[in-house]
Amino acid sequence: MNLRAPKRVFIKTYGCQMNVYDSERMGDVLAPEGFEAVDEAGKADLVILNTCHIREKAAEKVYSELGRLRILKQERAANGHDMLIAVAGCVAQAEGEEIVNRAPVVDVVVGPQTYHRLPELISRRTGTGASIVETEFPTEDKFSRFVETKPIARSVTAFVTVQEGCDKFCAFCVVPYTRGAEYSRSAAAVTAEAERLADGGVREITLLGQNVNAYHGDGPDGESWSLGRLLTQLSKIEGIERIRYTTSHPRDMDEELIEVHGSNPKVMPYLHLPIQAGSDRVLKAMNRRHSVMDYVRLIDRIRSVRPDIALSGDFIVGFPGETDEDFEETMALVRRVGYAQAYSFKYSPRPGTPAAQSAEQVAEETKSERLERLQTLLRKQQLAFNQSCVGRALEVLLEKPGRHAGQLVGRSPYLQAVHVDAGGAQIGQIVRVHVEEAGVNSLTGQLDVSARQQG
Ligand code: 5AD
Ligand code: SF4
Repeated sequence: MNLRAPKRVFIKTYGCQMNVYDSERMGDVLAPEGFEAVDEAGKADLVILNTCHIREKAAEKVYSELGRLRILKQERAANGHDMLIAVAGCVAQAEGEEIVNRAPVVDVVVGPQTYHRLPELISRRTGTGASIVETEFPTEDKFSRFVETKPIARSVTAFVTVQEGCDKFCAFCVVPYTRGAEYSRSAAAVTAEAERLADGGVREITLLGQNVNAYHGDGPDGESWSLGRLLTQLSKIEGIERIRYTTSHPRDMDEELIEVHGSNPKVMPYLHLPIQAGSDRVLKAMNRRHSVMDYVRLIDRIRSVRPDIALSGDFIVGFPGETDEDFEETMALVRRVGYAQAYSFKYSPRPGTPAAQSAEQVAEETKSERLERLQTLLRKQQLAFNQSCVGRALEVLLEKPGRHAGQLVGRSPYLQAVHVDAGGAQIGQIVRVHVEEAGVNSLTGQLDVSARQQG
């Protein structure tokens, strides 16, 4: 590949929002090298698969995608074009060398902690002709590299990673192995990134971390800052109207953070707070180190400062040893809490995690039945929450064109997608919308008269 000539990159992202953020940063570090983003692998000189390893079949999906890319690469070669293939993210971290052994078509394997070195890895690859595998946890901080590369504001909403890695070691989870130990960026670095995004037109930021509320970055005053303090600081940035954060652990939900939900109008009334299971026996086996009652009390406390908060969570069914009674306790907890939205999964043994070795694996069929029942209940709750908004006026940040011409889609404070008739000039505005209809996945409404006149 001619490194001087303009080049095109296609990045395919799997998995969580943190991967979305990482993919954007990969785009940012490649842009000064002349790489322009394209939306199709067939047009690209460099294809990056930014992979996820959290649940089943992730690695297999990557290998089948690599099979397709091998053919594409041959086709491009026949037309005289190079195509480099890189595998990034958590599968890259977990599989390492194995990827180039199984799929020799891969040129570069890069873990989540080293992708800021992509330009250098690519030129090493093109220089030496040998595949490169880079899955170290380097002492150099990838985030410090981002300070040099300006984040490109791609929308009116943006993610900002503030914390990465995890020290909790839940018995089912690969994150402590693929993302490494807990790390927090400094408050100054996060603030600088948020300010640059605001300058680029971003109105809403979502702070990301595998365990975001464990945030303890260095503050400018030399103290260690909590997430609550960081939120307060970020809310002072002009142009940033809304702040969210995800994902939180119940054990790290401190008073300061809870209070911020009651006092700071820029902190949105939405909280993703996974409990994973509703049985103390299962929580203990999962190494969650909190009880169901701890969680329920915490929710009560949060609702006491912000009664309308929309709650979200994650659930795993069929964790090793989970009985019918344990599962019924999960159903009872969901009924008790009432979720606005939630994610639920069948337990999937992840190689290298303690639970994968358990002899008490639950039958696939049982997992499927439990998941079906849980998802039916969660869908019902989600619909009920959405329907409770009909007839209300909600503030919606208009983000992008909707499905139909003349329609925009935005988000309510509760993170619901809201469709409204409005013109493109209103993208980036926060408008009042009278909600008229609610489905499981979105709301539909009409702009307030005064907002319509602004369009
Ligand atoms: N099996 C099923 N679900 C899992 N999660 C994490 N690891 C596993 C696993 N081995 C789920 C958890 C977590 C979410 C991101 O993915 O619910 O909160
Ligand atoms: Fe994984 Fe979250 Fe548990 Fe950390 S707290 S081990 S990221 S599930």
